[in-house]
Formats: sequence, structure tokens, C-alpha cells
Amino acid sequence: MEMKEKVLKKFGEIFGDTEGVKSYFAPGRVNLIGEHTDYNGGHVFPCALTIGTYGAARKREDRKLRFFSMNFEHLGVIESSLDNLTPEKKADWTNYPKGVMWAFEKRDMKIPYGMDLVLCGNIPNGSGLSSSASLEVLTGFILRDMFGFDVTNQDLALIGQYSENNFNGVNCGIMDQFAIAMGKKDHAIFLDTADLSYEYAPIHLEGAKIVIACSNKKRGLGDSKYNERRSECETALAELQKVVDIKSLGDLNEEQFEQYKDAIKDEVRRKRAKHAVYENQRTVKAVAALKANDIAQFGQLMNASHVSLRDDYEVTGIELDTLVEEAWKVDGVIGSRMTGAGFGGCTVSIVKTDAIDSFIEKVGEAYRKKIGYAADFYVVEIGDGPSVL
Ligand code: GLA
Repeated sequence: MEMKEKVLKKFGEIFGDTEGVKSYFAPGRVNLIGEHTDYNGGHVFPCALTIGTYGAARKREDRKLRFFSMNFEHLGVIESSLDNLTPEKKADWTNYPKGVMWAFEKRDMKIPYGMDLVLCGNIPNGSGLSSSASLEVLTGFILRDMFGFDVTNQDLALIGQYSENNFNGVNCGIMDQFAIAMGKKDHAIFLDTADLSYEYAPIHLEGAKIVIACSNKKRGLGDSKYNERRSECETALAELQKVVDIKSLGDLNEEQFEQYKDAIKDEVRRKRAKHAVYENQRTVKAVAALKANDIAQFGQLMNASHVSLRDDYEVTGIELDTLVEEAWKVDGVIGSRMTGAGFGGCTVSIVKTDAIDSFIEKVGEAYRKKIGYAADFYVVEIGDGPSVL
């Protein structure tokens, strides 16, 4: 059964019938290069995927909210109300849609009625492919469609990020929500997070595909060291600002960083800032390589990105390092790196189509041997942003 039908059927089972119900979709995302640059005023290069979050929603006549997720069936229907938009532990995953509703109200878009909502995602949970940002953008998209709010897709991204920062307490940058809200089939988004200017770059991987390897090491941004990395970068920036006039680490190129880096008084912070500066430059170079059809160079830059995330930014860990280092050994792998926040989650590799089977077999085998449990592999396609189905 197709996802849409599956979710509609469930809606009927849970809420009695499906009259007046509409179906929606928002994608997940993968970042090709430009990691931990989005809160440093740098560039990112993510794309939306054809996997994502499916929702069936119906407006109510009162202010109740009733949510059900097929990914967390054991939690049953979680109820709330538009009059109680505060984060609560017992609200579990529904803190994401509630947060978005709260953020709409903060922007003076009063939500007149509650809704019943059933969701089903085919993004592996906790994989680092942004299931939470997908849910945030989906919620905003549904609110716009249901109540006619005057917001652009880019606004939906900003609202999603605002809710995640201020309602759910995760200090994430704009990349995930932007990639999801602005996704375009067969294109990646070259986004400058300093001013949100962006450009779509076509991804024609002749004879190759994007393969995601999921480490199955669960992570949540909240309990990771994500916020710690952010503040290390902020401190490094403040130190640099004493000697050079910059707004963000993304304003520096490699030479300038080397010239001013001694202003950063701590060696660890210097490494963090170095990653942010060099990764931003790598991202710009990678997009130029892609435009010049130099996919081999693009792959080399992906590999260098991983090394920097491993050694300077220190957000990889044995699981992601094993997946990537084993991938580098396989013939037909053009590039491989961790993607997303790190500390678990998944890797992204560009693999020649005829090498995909052996890639999955070899990397999978080596991973199981070393880590003790299996990784999962997904050959993915780049898809569009949110839609009504
Ligand atoms: C997470 C955050 C993003 C970004 C990445 C790292 O996915 O949500 O904003 O910072 O980590 O590049």
C-alpha cells in the first residue's frame, strides 16, 4: 500500500472516518557538504529526499489537538489544546508540531481551530536525516493550507527553526528546515547562511548514486555535544573579533584564519574554528567542482570534510568513522563523509552504480564485525519540498 493510503486508513481507524481529511508530505534531507557551518555564517549544500513524513489532517471545530504517529504507535493518541502550547515531557514527539503552532502564534498568526493528525514517516528515526525538521515543516505547511496563512516556504523554514530553538531547546541552525521547505527534485541547495541567499545546483551523477549508511547509533541533538560546539565557535569568534572585523567565522578564508588564529587562546577552540572556516571554503569549492563537472574533486572534498569533522571538530565517533573509512576502501566510491550533526546518525557516499552492491556488502560486513550490530543502507533520490498529496 502506498504511504498516503496507509496513513489515511489509519486516520479512519483512529478518528472514526476520513471525511474532509487531506494528505500531505514533507521530505527528509541529506547534506552533501558544509557541516556545522550553518550557525557560523557559512555555506551548506543539502538536498531534500524522496523519503519523508506523511500526514493526514482534518480541522476540528474546537481547540483540541489530537496527534497519532504510526512510528510511535505504543504512545497512542496524544492530546493537547491550542490553549496549552507549552513544551511538556509527556507530550513526547508532539512537542514538535506544538512548537510550530506556538511559533505561528508568536508571529501573530492565531490558529482558530484544532486538528486531528496522523503521521507516518519513512525516514529512519534518529538517523540524522532530519525527521524532526521534516515534521516541523510539515506542520507549518498543513497550518498554511488549512487556515490560509500568508507565509512563504522560506518562512516555514524559519518558523520551524525558531520553534526548535525556542520551544524544543535545540540550538540548531537553519540548514535542515531550509533544505526541506525549499527542496527541489534532482537539485541540491547552495545556501549562504549569512544572508539566506541560495542557488539550486543540478545534481547529475552520471553512473553514480547517493547512498546513505545509517549507523543505528541513536542520537538526539539535545543530549549530544551540539550546543557545546556552537558555544565553542561563538567564543572563538569573539576572540577573533578583537583582532579582525568579521561578523561570523564564515567571513574568513583559510589564509586569513591562519593569520589571525593566535587570537584564539585555547587549542581546542582553535580547532573548532578552523573546521568552520575550512569547511565553508570546501563547500564553495565543492559546488564549483560540481559546476565544472568534476565529480572526482567533489568526492575528494567530501572526504576532506570528514577528516576535519573527525579530527578538528570531533563530532564523528567510532561508528561513523568505521562507515566512512571502510567506504573509502571500496572501488567505485567517489566520496564519503558523515552527514548532519554527527555523534551517530549516518554517512553520505557517492558511489558508482555498479559498485553499490559490493559497497553495501563490504562496508556492512566490516561495520558489523567492528561495531557488533548492523548498519542500514539506503540508495536515495533527491526530491521536492512539501506538498499536498
Ligand atoms: C544539525 C542541525 C543543523 C546543522 C547540522 C550540522 O542537523 O540541525 O542546523 O547545524 O546539524 O551541519
